[in-house]
Amino acid sequence: MASFAEVRRLTRRTVRQVPGARPLVRQLRDGWNRVRPLPLPGYAADTPATDRSNPWVRLTAQTVAEAATAHESASFVADVLSRLTPCAGLGDLTESRAFYRDAVLEFGRHWRYADLLTTLRAAASLIRPSSYLEIGVLRGRSAAVVAASAPECAIYGFDLWQPQFAGMPNPGPDFVRQELCAVGHSGATVLVSGDSHRTVPAFLREHPDLYFDLVTIDGDKSVLGAATDLANTLPRLKVGGIVVSDDLAIFPPIMRVWEKMIRRDSRYSSWEFLDGEWGVAAAIRLPDQPEYVRLGRKQDAEPKREERRETVRQGALGRADR
Ligand SMILES: C[S@@+](CC[C@H](N)C(=O)[O-])C[C@H]1O[C@@H](n2cnc3c(N)ncnc32)[C@H](O)[C@@H]1O
Repeated sequence: MASFAEVRRLTRRTVRQVPGARPLVRQLRDGWNRVRPLPLPGYAADTPATDRSNPWVRLTAQTVAEAATAHESASFVADVLSRLTPCAGLGDLTESRAFYRDAVLEFGRHWRYADLLTTLRAAASLIRPSSYLEIGVLRGRSAAVVAASAPECAIYGFDLWQPQFAGMPNPGPDFVRQELCAVGHSGATVLVSGDSHRTVPAFLREHPDLYFDLVTIDGDKSVLGAATDLANTLPRLKVGGIVVSDDLAIFPPIMRVWEKMIRRDSRYSSWEFLDGEWGVAAAIRLPDQPEYVRLGRKQDAEPKREERRETVRQGALGRADR
């Protein structure tokens, strides 16, 4: 009997030979991706919070946006890239560095831009993470930006590390370790090889008390793959922590996953930058209860019942309007 992979290969070959079949298949796939049910994160009630000196002051998504698009972040990233190993075929780091510099030369100080790297720089400089989880590490560029911003942060990276990725060599975990050292990382590094849909849940089951300040999802770009990675990791994102997702502009299905799993969820305050070639998004996990309840100041800080109803109504309207 033919295996599933063989049947799929034969079907693809047949479809390629039938005129007009490919666009039809694409449309059917897009339609299914729009309506397909996505895996849901299993949130727990007692999720720990990030270690903040002043819990009364809340980080906003707009603050992350300002920091991610600031020139300081672009120059920091350019400096990190200059410290990484240049190697043939591995994404031209010189070109990426020149991109930030040339854009400022061309458009001046008003130029605003964000990508995965500037967003991670912003997130790491704002929350100073002590634990970072990344799905999709490749040669360690994005992990290096976090490592350079928070040298003592423990880094947990998950990747298939197949020898080739999108025509580029994928040099593997030992190379990534060297890159992290090159930018001054001194915290723990745990790099796990294999399919994240299996390795991440298995790893988290083995470490039931491990929570993360910062999470990046940049691995499998299929709808189900990206949703599964988010569903597996979001329950371990600390309250006040930041989740970042890449490639939302270039892969519209990833934007739909973000929309369904983060943007429409009142647990998050989110921001997206879709104006660049790739597109990036970041969201802050909000506390389940307002600060005045959480911090035990209920007596003197709780507004009268009528006032509170009004605030909740406005909040709900604000969210629906977005
Ligand atoms: C876009 S690259 C990551 C780039 C990296 N974050 C950076 O900024 O340099 C995507 C990576 O995800 C990995 N990947 C794709 N599907 C995966 C899966 N199911 N499990 C683990 N890793 C996966 C690929 O091997 C590749 O290294």
